[in-house]
Amino acid sequence: MTTPNKISSAQNLSAQKLLHIDTRRLYETGTGAQGVGAAEMNALLPELQRAHQTLVKKSETGLEAEYACLNLHTGMQSLLPTIQAMAENIRRYRDVAVIGIGGSSLGAKAVHQALSAANPDAANPRLHFLENIDSYRLHALLQNCTAENLAVICISKSGGTMETAVQYLILRAWLEKNLGKEKARQQQWIVTDPSQGWLRDLAQREGIAALPVPPKVGGRYSVLTAVGLLPLAAVGVDIQGLLAGASANAARCVAAERSQNPALELAALFYLLDIQKDKRISIMMPYVDPLAIFGDWYCQLWAESLGKRMQSRPGKPPAGTLPVRAMGAVDQHSQLQMYLESRLDKIFSFIALDNWDHDFTVPLPPPDQKFFPHLAGKHMHEIIEAEFQATRQVITETGHPNMTLRLPALNAHVLGQLIDLYQRVTVYTGLLYGINPLDQPAVEKGKKLAVQLLSANPTS
Ligand code: PA5
Repeated sequence: MTTPNKISSAQNLSAQKLLHIDTRRLYETGTGAQGVGAAEMNALLPELQRAHQTLVKKSETGLEAEYACLNLHTGMQSLLPTIQAMAENIRRYRDVAVIGIGGSSLGAKAVHQALSAANPDAANPRLHFLENIDSYRLHALLQNCTAENLAVICISKSGGTMETAVQYLILRAWLEKNLGKEKARQQQWIVTDPSQGWLRDLAQREGIAALPVPPKVGGRYSVLTAVGLLPLAAVGVDIQGLLAGASANAARCVAAERSQNPALELAALFYLLDIQKDKRISIMMPYVDPLAIFGDWYCQLWAESLGKRMQSRPGKPPAGTLPVRAMGAVDQHSQLQMYLESRLDKIFSFIALDNWDHDFTVPLPPPDQKFFPHLAGKHMHEIIEAEFQATRQVITETGHPNMTLRLPALNAHVLGQLIDLYQRVTVYTGLLYGINPLDQPAVEKGKKLAVQLLSANPTS
């Protein structure tokens, strides 16, 4: 193996740089007839103004606002010292079980994957995300840690999610059996609603350390609350940097004018591509492995927020494009055939990285050079960049509208920007569809049925 060369200190180089957002290929001028035309965009202007005014109005009162999720970069500042103090205690343990699901897990998991890849630190605790009801995973965790060295963070906004409650109850009982009630209590942390629900009740009854989730912030918009910040701080993520990044993005998205507000422009384009051009699938394709789970976070945010009936368009398809996560270059060897020869019903969002923290040069001894003459002396970052550019070109030539986000680096500031950008785009897009991007009415049906089934079946 060749020695890794540090091509740039991405952390230092680009701490304050903004994402580069390239929307040109979402327009007719960049991608042909399948893109958005000037006339379509102009016709949308009054609706864009209305959406912007609504977003501003509904964000006006900080954490009390309906869109409190867009104010977390300022609203969470006062809680940071408490979060950091709790995180310091959690850092004393070797393993940390983070129990939560959906919005109570994916954001922290995404940021953790993105940032620990750049700076793995063996001194940090190991985070274990327990989401699903899955006894294989729970068994594996218990086999690989000791009760003395396990901290448990249980996260649920509602405090009543079955998957979360089940795993927390099992882990609590295991800790108590091994350590006794008092010691077990000291190894538990709860993040939940400030005043209601089972978890809040439990925290108060037993004196378990607990942090609040602002009541107006829904699960999938909550990564920048204690839901994401506590586990991330526990493994040394720069949570102040995350909030600073969110703040930097918020600052570039204040204008009412589409061309000065990237979140508004993206929402307009995604909306028009669905409504006018029948694009029903939205594919996020990072060419950066550590952003795989960020793609999953995006999928939840987009699907649960926008996949809704539109009362305002009777007879038309419901709102929402189906979010899909692909990975460059891996899915060039899996999905690309379909992208290039099947239906033109897709939008692509590519993510590329400008500065990699680590790099390798391809060692190509002379006898091997004739097989790969194009690789001689190349760096890995040059090769993945060439693959990205080539794929984007063929996607564009096929006629698929696509956008590119270029990240100046992989750091907390950039992740904060990405999170704020996507949350804002999602809220704007929901407003354009005329639906509520914050609720998830249909999800409750299945939950209720599962409870009925469990209630009806006698215990085995
Ligand atoms: O976005 C949402 O609201 C959901 O994905 C929730 O985060 C998920 O259902 C978990 O809910 P809770 O945090 O109440 O346990």
